[in-house]
Amino acid sequence: MVDLHEADKPLGRTELIARLKGRQGLVCLITDAIDAPLLAACPDLKVVANVAVGFNNIDVVEATKRGVVITNTPDVLTETTADFAWTLLMATARRVVEADRYVREGKFKQWEFMLLLGGDIHGKTLGIIGFGRIGRAMARRARGFDMRVLYQDAVAANPATERELLATRTDTATLLRESDFVTLHTPLLPETQHLINAESLKTMKKTAYLVNASRGPVVDEAALAQALKEGWIAGAGIDVFEREPEVHPALRGLPNAVLAPHIASASSDTRLKMANLAVDNCLAVLEGNTPPTPVNPEVLARR
Ligand code: GLV
Repeated sequence: MVDLHEADKPLGRTELIARLKGRQGLVCLITDAIDAPLLAACPDLKVVANVAVGFNNIDVVEATKRGVVITNTPDVLTETTADFAWTLLMATARRVVEADRYVREGKFKQWEFMLLLGGDIHGKTLGIIGFGRIGRAMARRARGFDMRVLYQDAVAANPATERELLATRTDTATLLRESDFVTLHTPLLPETQHLINAESLKTMKKTAYLVNASRGPVVDEAALAQALKEGWIAGAGIDVFEREPEVHPALRGLPNAVLAPHIASASSDTRLKMANLAVDNCLAVLEGNTPPTPVNPEVLARR
């Protein structure tokens, strides 16, 4: 039997727990907090299938202790997410949103040589923090723009991958100092919370741009707003926020920030693939099989 919540709005916690009574499987979204008290209140659960690659909404350690399998949806969203992070990168550097507003507001009275000057992308240095699937997909895109690619990750890519993607592993400080674009593709972990803070933003070039399509709390949003306002960096393309759906009020007023409501994987094709994969994961566990894409709790312990 399937209990389907059709509205595109999260169930309240009390209702979610009530509806999970006697249920073995849950297909859920990143807006559902699957924490220790919820897992304790739902002892029949065998699997939680998150329709997302990130799973910081789930207490994986507690779930594993209780024998609940957690699954996510990697791979199917890699290219779509990288497409959008690249879109933010280009929109920010070339001031697409400001330009659009300028035209709509009737300000385009005559062509001007110095109007809306932006930053070049081709030939510049791209710094990728988090060199997993999406980070590597960004490096592939950078090749088409003749960019130098630096990356930072706890784990080094193998030499063949580094050669193929023309990517060089470096420490965070060097990456921040040398990159013209810094793009974040790391999971949210205790050690990546506020990885980008006032100190790191001050390390970046004044002409550099930040892109975040990972998780909001990886960036100290108040520090970012100050950096954008005071010109510590040139701009930022931001798809994720520290306290979604809230956005730091200072960010909203800044023309050099391009803001999006956490939509990096939101293409019709990809959202369908994510939903199908989550259902396959859920059914596999309920049928006693290994799910296609389980979250390995050891990965969390290792990182
Ligand atoms: C979306 O944010 C995801 O993690 O898939």
